[in-house]
Amino acid sequence: VPDLQHPGISWLFMRRQLMNFVLVTTAGIPVLVALGCYLWYFVPPVAGGGSGATLAGDQEGNPITLESWVKSHKENDRELVQGLKGEPYYLISTADNIKDFALLSVCTHLGCVVPWSKSNNKFCCPCHGSQYDENGKVVRGPAPLSLALAHTTTQDGKLALTPWPEKDFRTDLDPWWK
Ligand code: FES
Repeated sequence: VPDLQHPGISWLFMRRQLMNFVLVTTAGIPVLVALGCYLWYFVPPVAGGGSGATLAGDQEGNPITLESWVKSHKENDRELVQGLKGEPYYLISTADNIKDFALLSVCTHLGCVVPWSKSNNKFCCPCHGSQYDENGKVVRGPAPLSLALAHTTTQDGKLALTPWPEKDFRTDLDPWWK
């Protein structure tokens, strides 16, 4: 039985303990990181309070209050927010509110983000020239379909989006994005 009181042996014993600690710790960090990433995958970017709504996020993903939105936008302004599934949606300003629908900014041709052209009063895709009217209805191909819709709402004063499962009001057809 080693004499742990012996100065040489107790130093060796402590060193081994320290090495074990370092090994366990360094091996454990990647496992914790991987587990954290795995769990984070299932957490929505901004939780919506359990009602099926997703809070709209600004560029940093922070919630946006309706009050601050109205103060910083004019009627007919369109600006991107992080919406359902973290995807980029346009909110559309009215004089003192926002419209009750939001538009997914992803072109239905090959998926480019479609900018709003104020001078043309249209969304004009820079990739292959598709155009959508002010409500996101396709008016020129090659895009085959209109921009996807979501409902807008507020939760405790913060802007939020909910899915749009009913008919598309622009075409009177079932939504292709369901
Ligand atoms: Fe928009 Fe092709 S991706 S027109």
